[in-house]
Amino acid sequence: DDPAADPFEIARQAAAQLAEATGVPRHDIALTLGSGWAQAADLIGETTATVPATEIVGFSKPALTGHVGTLRSVLLPNGKRALIIGARTHFYEGHGVRRVVHSVRTAAAAGATTMILTNGAGGIRSTWGPGTPVLISDHINLTAASPLEGATFIDLTDLYSRRLRDLARTVDPSLDEGVYVQFRGPHYETPAEVQMAKTVGGHIVGMSTALEAIAAREARMEILGFSLITNPAAGISDEPLDHAEVLQAGRDAEPVISALLARVVAQL
Ligand code: 6GU
Repeated sequence: DDPAADPFEIARQAAAQLAEATGVPRHDIALTLGSGWAQAADLIGETTATVPATEIVGFSKPALTGHVGTLRSVLLPNGKRALIIGARTHFYEGHGVRRVVHSVRTAAAAGATTMILTNGAGGIRSTWGPGTPVLISDHINLTAASPLEGATFIDLTDLYSRRLRDLARTVDPSLDEGVYVQFRGPHYETPAEVQMAKTVGGHIVGMSTALEAIAAREARMEILGFSLITNPAAGISDEPLDHAEVLQAGRDAEPVISALLARVVAQL
């Protein structure tokens, strides 16, 4: 949080601590598992180390139930190493955007060149029922924040890799894709805000991922994004939004979407 501190230096320290704690010097890919996706960690390979995130510099205590608060090193069947980030800091927690993207920068400093970002989100398309996984094709960042500081004018074209989206569709050709709109939260959107998101070209509303994707692009990682639609966004159906129901929809869908994600990771 020290404005004078270099966030990349702290990420390098975190990566060094992680290498020490896991006994794995480098990771090839990183996955941030949001609501509904956590079981994928057990399906993609063999966990060789689990580290409480609070033992690693720069990570804050998990604020949310449903988030596991650990970093895991997983050995994939193909011999690659995956870093599973089960400790996400959300922008709405108010710790600033550096904290939000610290895990991504740590993964990059640990050697990861592929970043898979997952989340639970609201759907704007009424055909997407709870439990539908959607590939993120692009995003609209409505947080008014950026993880970049100073004159870092990076290009965000094809932020969510077309190659990786095509690869995901070889696993499940029925996967839809859509534009993810990150709001700050922690309140859900008003129906009017959901209509705005729809009007400007959005299909999915959530409170994570976009800021992390920007940091991953800055770190030259190839990015794949998945949303689990846990509920229709406000005003899309007549049902009021309930956080417990959102979590339950995630739990119900977890086995199916985690298996999907594991099959995609096996193709990488
Ligand atoms: Cl409707 N909105 C946002 N921002 N995040 C969500 C959600 C809605 N449903 C699950 N997560």
